[in-house]
Amino acid sequence: MKILITGACGFVGNCLVEALLENCEGLEIIGLDNLSRAGSEINRSNFKKQGVTFIHGDIRSISDLETIPPVDWVIDAAANPSVLAGKDGSTSSRQLIENNLYGTVNLLEFCKQHKAGFILLSTSRVYALKELSSIPIVTDGTHFSVNQTATLPQGLTVNGISENFSTTPPLSLYGNTKLASENLAIEYSDAFDFPLWINRCGVLAGKGQFGRPDQGILAYWVHSWAQKKPLRYIGFEGKGLQTRDFLHPKDLVSVIKKQINHIGRGQKPIISNFSGGIHSARSLLEMSNWCENRFGPHEVTSDLSPRPFDIPWMILDSQQAKKEWDWEPTTPFEDIIEEIAQHSETHPTWLDLSIA
Ligand SMILES: NC(=O)c1ccc[n+]([C@@H]2O[C@H](COP(=O)([O-])OP(=O)(O)OC[C@H]3O[C@@H](n4cnc5c(N)ncnc54)[C@H](O)[C@@H]3O)[C@@H](O)[C@H]2O)c1
Repeated sequence: MKILITGACGFVGNCLVEALLENCEGLEIIGLDNLSRAGSEINRSNFKKQGVTFIHGDIRSISDLETIPPVDWVIDAAANPSVLAGKDGSTSSRQLIENNLYGTVNLLEFCKQHKAGFILLSTSRVYALKELSSIPIVTDGTHFSVNQTATLPQGLTVNGISENFSTTPPLSLYGNTKLASENLAIEYSDAFDFPLWINRCGVLAGKGQFGRPDQGILAYWVHSWAQKKPLRYIGFEGKGLQTRDFLHPKDLVSVIKKQINHIGRGQKPIISNFSGGIHSARSLLEMSNWCENRFGPHEVTSDLSPRPFDIPWMILDSQQAKKEWDWEPTTPFEDIIEEIAQHSETHPTWLDLSIA
């Protein structure tokens, strides 16, 4: 089987290349990346020994895609993945939409032409910002959690946000490029009859992530702590109680293997959440406590000013993936953070590379 992985030099794309090669026999992988993410260049060097064909190309460019031979599946991991993209001045809103939406359309045209299946790595940020911001929250002083005694909105349970939580805009420019990509992928798959899976992922984390304050937070936090670089709790009273769950991208391989070999259409939902879930959820403060035990003390300052699109709490519920795909996350939070800690010890200048 031949697979095109876009964004193959990025954190998730590269992790999937490695884990798919380890876990699937007879796979031929073509990796494509425009190397726009600071640090992504470093992942290119392994491809030759892994037997991966690398194409330095851009999903926005039709002529770059024309050079790619037919494949059985496209896994799309090329995007600007920051929730602040298009808003924070580092990229324009038009650039964001060109990369994340028009790029997807070009890949869908590619799938249409070659009858290739499409796997879109989507995000928990497709869920509605207003509804997420107004989830009733309580705290025990270490993290935020949902107030279970309050009336909860549709799609929210003790397990987190499920697929039927509202996706009504505004979401964020980033979130909406992914939601629009999802919608167009469903239209193309239906109109031109090729298989499609949309995997809505919660926060992904692991060693080798190009962490920044706005994206790749766990890697950013651990590397910064290890190197005694400045850290801030931003917004939400500056106490670091904002809470997320964490999933290692290699845990996605077990379901991707099933998806690319699945025969029959319409028997399973196209869209599913994939996440670390409630057991992997931690606040920034809890991450700091872990880092203090591992690396010793370090000061974190508070910045009370709110950040656009920020939310106090997000835990994604992947009960549907368990039911439909017999899928569960397998890498516990402690293993993910320890993996990053060890990486920070062997790569002390990693943040210089990824924030460049
Ligand atoms: N990291 C997360 O927490 C997370 C969570 C949910 C979904 N996702 C999705 O997973 C995918 C990968 O995210 P990541 O964390 O690996 O980000 P990343 O920035 O590490 O990787 C993205 C890669 O895509 C490349 N790229 C960007 N625009 C491109 C273009 N126009 N043409 C070709 N290559 C291009 C970049 O150079 C980079 O190597 C994204 O689609 C993102 O939306 C990520």
